[in-house]
Amino acid sequence: MYLSGMLTALVTGGTSGLGAAFARSLAREGFNLILVARNEDRLREVAEDLAGEYSIHVEVIAADLSDREHVERVAQRLADTSAPVDLLVNNAGFSVGTPFLSEDFSPHDVGTDVMCRAVALLSGAAGRSMMHRGTGWIVNIASIAGCVTMGQYSSIKAYVTSMTESLAVELHGTGVQATAVLPGWVRTEFHSRAGIAGSSIPNFMWLNADSVADEALADVARGKVISIPTIRYKTVFTALHHLPRPTVRWISRQVSGARKREKKA
Ligand SMILES: NC(=O)c1ccc[n+]([C@@H]2O[C@H](COP(=O)([O-])OP(=O)(O)OC[C@H]3O[C@@H](n4cnc5c(N)ncnc54)[C@H](OP(=O)(O)O)[C@@H]3O)[C@@H](O)[C@H]2O)c1
Repeated sequence: MYLSGMLTALVTGGTSGLGAAFARSLAREGFNLILVARNEDRLREVAEDLAGEYSIHVEVIAADLSDREHVERVAQRLADTSAPVDLLVNNAGFSVGTPFLSEDFSPHDVGTDVMCRAVALLSGAAGRSMMHRGTGWIVNIASIAGCVTMGQYSSIKAYVTSMTESLAVELHGTGVQATAVLPGWVRTEFHSRAGIAGSSIPNFMWLNADSVADEALADVARGKVISIPTIRYKTVFTALHHLPRPTVRWISRQVSGARKREKKA
């Protein structure tokens, strides 16, 4: 399809949902893989399956990306010139449903550490190393949620989009490319981990993780800085950018309200 050769990709959160789908899509193209996540047993299981099915080399790094020392270990792997990483997918993430008004700020800290700090730091480590070779791809998983105003998760995902566009500006002319992917609702473990049933979301708005990964990687190959998989969500994205801000906030209140009612039920 697009990116090929004897290349290596590092995927954070590569054991489940979207990350696993990116890993499978890249493995199909012959990429060797480095998978990063916390659960070591699951990492080994997924790595063995991928290595067996696609005859590729799969390395694992057990790391909690909310821990600065662990993030540093992953950054060092990205900086290792003896075994270069050609493509980075900053995908690890989760829902942060804690309100800004909550007295407990720790979920916000963990959310921003994993989905903002680690994403920016690993993008920088990969970008520096790739720039020396004059080639490489950095793919950061943002969300359509970043276009609405639904708490810390929206704020974090808006940051990822903005940070990636800024990175693309810094990388311009270096041969290294940065892409932010903004998926809509995707069927993964994301919602069950957050205790969200998702029953208030209409069926036709749910996406398949493998299709999202394939479409995003095709956009990466085309050199896109912003990738929005599916026509459905391209339309949602365009609408949200043209609607008056009070209307966007009204929509955000309706969706948040439906989610709260769903959680209570
Ligand atoms: N699902 C959706 O509707 C949707 C929509 C738009 C964007 N996204 C974004 O897509 C990305 C992937 O989410 P998903 O839906 O695929 O969720 P998922 O199925 O729950 O997978 C999350 C992955 O991230 C890893 N992870 C979580 N916390 C981590 C940490 N502290 N350190 C290292 N790894 C960690 C998990 O492995 P361990 O638990 O073993 O660490 C797992 O591999 C996230 O950034 C999410 O915000 C999801």
